[in-house]
Amino acid sequence: MNKIIISPSILSADFSNLERDIKRVEQAGADWIHVDVMDGHFVPNITIGAPVVKSIRKVTKMPFDVHLMIENPEKYIKDFVDAGSELITIHYEAVKNVKDIIDQIKIFGIKAGVSIKPKTPVNVLEDFISDLDLVLIMTVEPGFGGQKFMNDCLPKISEVKNLLEEYNLSKTVIEVDGGIDDKTCKLAVEAGANALVAGSYIYNSPDIKVAVKSLK
Ligand code: DX5
Ligand code: ZN
Repeated sequence: MNKIIISPSILSADFSNLERDIKRVEQAGADWIHVDVMDGHFVPNITIGAPVVKSIRKVTKMPFDVHLMIENPEKYIKDFVDAGSELITIHYEAVKNVKDIIDQIKIFGIKAGVSIKPKTPVNVLEDFISDLDLVLIMTVEPGFGGQKFMNDCLPKISEVKNLLEEYNLSKTVIEVDGGIDDKTCKLAVEAGANALVAGSYIYNSPDIKVAVKSLK
């Protein structure tokens, strides 16, 4: 079986102890750090921007998996690249010209992903699927950590898997974000996910190491 990438979301970390909380998941064997960027427009919440990414770049070599839940992401791609992102994911629903922005990200030599919200159908990805390094399927409405996994999004994971097979895209990562814990992770992986984002499950657990290991 292929390796499953674990990408803890620092949205649920202690923002006054980000270095400690990043190192904790690193030592626990996590693979990426998931950074949730929210603008108060595309989603009803505001989080962090490129300056924070730049600061945490100094404390770890783990790849940064940056999830932009923002309008006009094209204005900020360079800032997030300069800050040290390895992968930038934009939202399909936030932009008109997905393909142009994907190209804009890839010109910098980093990976590009597109995310779809729970109500967005998988077939919207077809126009640019071959250009993506990653598809991010939201299993909660984006905006907040700690929400319940939406089981009715599971078929979408299999649909993305089938779509990638149809286009012979075996390297494209299928990432799932929202409500992932030690039970829902199984459902997501069985449906075809090979990368899992988890925020509250990891950071609210009494033992971060045990939590990361249980997902692995
Ligand atoms: C939600 C974010 C998620 C969030 C996940 O909009 O994109 O990455 O941090 O948090 P949990 O794992 O608590 O659902
Ligand atoms: Zn996220």
